[in-house]
Amino acid sequence: MKAKRRKLNNTRVLVGITGSVAAYKAVDLIRRLKDEGASVKVVMTDASSRFITPLSIELAAGPGNVFCGMFDNPMAHIELAVESDLMVVAPATANTIGKFAQGMADDLLAACFMAYRGPVVLAPAMNWRMYESFSFKENLTLLKERGAFEVEPEEGPLACGEYGKGRMASVERIVEAAKAALCEKDLLGRKVVVTAGPTREHIDDVRFISNLSSGKMGFALARAAAARGASVTLISGPTVLALPDGVAFVPVTSASEMREAVLEEAAGAHALVMSAAVADFAPSVRLEGKGPKEDIEGGLSLTGNPDILAEAARLEARPLIIGFAAEAGQDTARAEDKRVAKGADYMVFNNVSDPEAGFDVDTNRITVLGGGSPVSHPLMSKEEAAHVVLDLLIPEPGA
Ligand SMILES: Cc1cc2nc3c(=O)[nH]c(=O)nc-3n(C[C@H](O)[C@H](O)[C@H](O)COP(=O)(O)O)c2cc1C
Repeated sequence: MKAKRRKLNNTRVLVGITGSVAAYKAVDLIRRLKDEGASVKVVMTDASSRFITPLSIELAAGPGNVFCGMFDNPMAHIELAVESDLMVVAPATANTIGKFAQGMADDLLAACFMAYRGPVVLAPAMNWRMYESFSFKENLTLLKERGAFEVEPEEGPLACGEYGKGRMASVERIVEAAKAALCEKDLLGRKVVVTAGPTREHIDDVRFISNLSSGKMGFALARAAAARGASVTLISGPTVLALPDGVAFVPVTSASEMREAVLEEAAGAHALVMSAAVADFAPSVRLEGKGPKEDIEGGLSLTGNPDILAEAARLEARPLIIGFAAEAGQDTARAEDKRVAKGADYMVFNNVSDPEAGFDVDTNRITVLGGGSPVSHPLMSKEEAAHVVLDLLIPEPGA
């Protein structure tokens, strides 16, 4: 049986909103959670309603889905706790985190937290001095030790005019954390190395050879592996993508830098998933500064880049290796030949001339080669495709 993963559809999410300037962002969060298929109920603290009205929150959450006073409905603090699969508190104030940690239940949200038994995601937002304070850190650490997941705030200009770490994480990151909190941790204790993006092979300091890879597939793999509990190292060429939470990141530029990083990280890892589009060749000589046009027009001499996957397959402490074969056309036989020649355990074939499966789109249509007959999967999001690929790390019972 394949790993059970949880998405947000058919998930009952209890959103807590507390008294921070970031409270208005909860409107967007509630909409995003609902877009993902979750049903959302909201508990607002008294202080939060000084920043955003319950009416605005009700417009996003739907009529009857917003709860404020402990005594408005005598059983709400238990019913909301029992009838939720996930609790997300965003923004989470220092005060509420303190109450959660110290076992106080003097408002509806704190009482719900105490009665609730599922996964909890906390998105703190506050001035950086409060975030760094000893008491806050201690309370947050206590909650994390008990299993709560923190979506760390970001550094930047704060509402008070100061600069520092304390801005609430983006709604995208909070939604990702919510999904991760629901994921079965079937890769716990395993190290997974993922490569992503293109490489850049410099002609001189300003010009380079590269390809159209956006890194989306590799970043989705890293995010999904982290959500499933793996310890993830993401080695990526240049991309514009936001880094997934909870992932060790090794930025590289060229194929030779990627090779070095892969060989170092992959030795002893459980799995290496090579989704990077490594440039096939690099200029034989790199010119300094901005090289004269004539020197380049005169003839660019190219040298083949190292075959990183094949080298990794020869490592002594060899991980399970999953390669990606981006082919223009439906030629899975060529991808299978590559798999065998390079020594990969699996090769994930995708047709990059398919507009729904190529570079820089959010979907993919993959065929998995290796371990028997090819298995073709229907069009799916790169996030879903990432989980399909990671399922290869979980042996079927009896296999
Ligand atoms: C303008 C203003 C902004 C505030 N912003 C924050 C904040 O971002 N984070 C925080 O922890 N507290 C903030 N506070 C303090 C909280 O609102 C206060 O501690 C309150 O008691 C929190 O109550 P609650 O946790 O029940 O929502 C702010 C207070 C004011 C007056």
